[in-house]
Amino acid sequence: MPNPVPCAIVIFGASGDLAQLKLIPAIYELCRERLVTDKFVLVGYARSTTKKDGTPLTDEQYRKDCYDAIKKNARHQPIDEAVWKRMEPNIHYVAGAYDSAEDHARLAARLKEWDKSNDTGGNRLFYISTPPEVFEGIICRLGERLAPGTPDAPAGFQRVIIEKPFGRDLETAKHLNAVLHKYFDEKQVFRIDHYLGKETVQNLMVMRFANSIFEPIWNYKYIDHVQITVSETVSADDRAGYYDKSGATRDMIQNHMFQLMALVAMEPPAALDATSIRDEKVKVYKSVRPMRPNMVDAQAVRGQYGPGQYKSKNDLKPTSGYLKARGVAPGSRTETFSAIKLYIDNWRWSGMPFYLRTGKCLPEKLSEIVVRFRSPPLTLFQKTCEEIFPNDLVIRVQPEEGMSWRLNAKVPGGTMTIKSVALDFEYKTAFNVEPPEAYERLLYDSLLDDQTLFIRGDEAEAAWQVIDPIEQAWAKSDKPPQQYEPNTWGPKAAMDLIELDGRRWLHSGSDEEPIVACSL
Ligand code: BG6
Repeated sequence: MPNPVPCAIVIFGASGDLAQLKLIPAIYELCRERLVTDKFVLVGYARSTTKKDGTPLTDEQYRKDCYDAIKKNARHQPIDEAVWKRMEPNIHYVAGAYDSAEDHARLAARLKEWDKSNDTGGNRLFYISTPPEVFEGIICRLGERLAPGTPDAPAGFQRVIIEKPFGRDLETAKHLNAVLHKYFDEKQVFRIDHYLGKETVQNLMVMRFANSIFEPIWNYKYIDHVQITVSETVSADDRAGYYDKSGATRDMIQNHMFQLMALVAMEPPAALDATSIRDEKVKVYKSVRPMRPNMVDAQAVRGQYGPGQYKSKNDLKPTSGYLKARGVAPGSRTETFSAIKLYIDNWRWSGMPFYLRTGKCLPEKLSEIVVRFRSPPLTLFQKTCEEIFPNDLVIRVQPEEGMSWRLNAKVPGGTMTIKSVALDFEYKTAFNVEPPEAYERLLYDSLLDDQTLFIRGDEAEAAWQVIDPIEQAWAKSDKPPQQYEPNTWGPKAAMDLIELDGRRWLHSGSDEEPIVACSL
């Protein structure tokens, strides 16, 4: 695998959860695999000058914090001390305000020193992993310093990785794009969606385009519908500060789930490069039938968990309900569950629904795409069998990453009894490896300057264009989100959304077999 050139990685939001849980451990894994050179520099940048307990945040202290984060969260345990010894001297901490020109100047000066000591050659990867309120300040201060012709502009490459949320609607996303483009070329901007770093998500393209059996049947003529579920058992009780301004639709559907939908729905790209693939994804969003305000109630459901018990690891934990969580505005209408039905009005998918649902406090943590094929005509078997189940292609993004084809087979014996059986492919058993963490792949790609698995500016805007009418209708509506009990599959209306069409969610809490989809 190519080894990226020496570079300084600056993480804004160095003490945040994402850095500790994902980014630092991912960088450690890359070092472990020798996918970054020993000369890279890792700089944590945040506002705090001390830790919560008053300990001054120095380079030494930040190194200790990074060590603890790796020990706790890295994929490979125990920590490889030799790898850590290579990383440790290259880790630094800079305390500063996010939008202060002076503090950025201090950062720039230190980066120049490390260019000399570590041969980083002016190469910079700035990772913005802060609350969205400070995105703009960071981008502007960085841009002012790095724009060609400014005295501090270094010689190497300058890239910016920006975390979600990328805006909260079309207007704010456009504004953020304009701010970025004022200083940076689109080629320097890496909008991250960690779902694209997941191995199974990347495999979606391989599965579709490297196997000839799918293409002829990958359309509305053979597929009855596609359903995508991203369910989580966790509550939003501890994250209300962020979550209450976002909600399930903005937090999960506009980005992660739309990426899954786009990869299922897009046309084969002309090449596997960033431009060709992202062009095709944009076309998918642009083909989504706009939801008229009077259709929102029929095609979108929002829910909010009430009091009860939700799953936390292997236990049940009580919650007083979303509305009672600390940081939630009184009477908040923020949805913790969202289900929507969309149509992609192009020649491939005309008239065929895509159902998407996501929520907190649901009974299982899973991300899954179900492609349900139409059923064969029943005439041949109807005398002996009551039902022939439709074929499902289940793509399990997580957990137990893999794929499963559900087919019908005869039960051995004298009678013609048909049963649904599964052909299973599981990553763990097929390749005997655990897929890498999404952030490892995405950080590595950004170091290599590969934008394929990152979201382009127009792609983010096109995705908001689909979501905006739903959010606007909800904002005007006098109906609050429907309450649902924690540890259930969401409000009843989410079942009705699909069941009134004669279909069923693969996971719905009911033991009944799936109902037969439309015949060919
Ligand atoms: C994040 C959302 O982007 O994705 C969280 O902000 C969510 O609310 C998380 O919990 C889910 O990611 P994963 O990889 O665990 O499915």
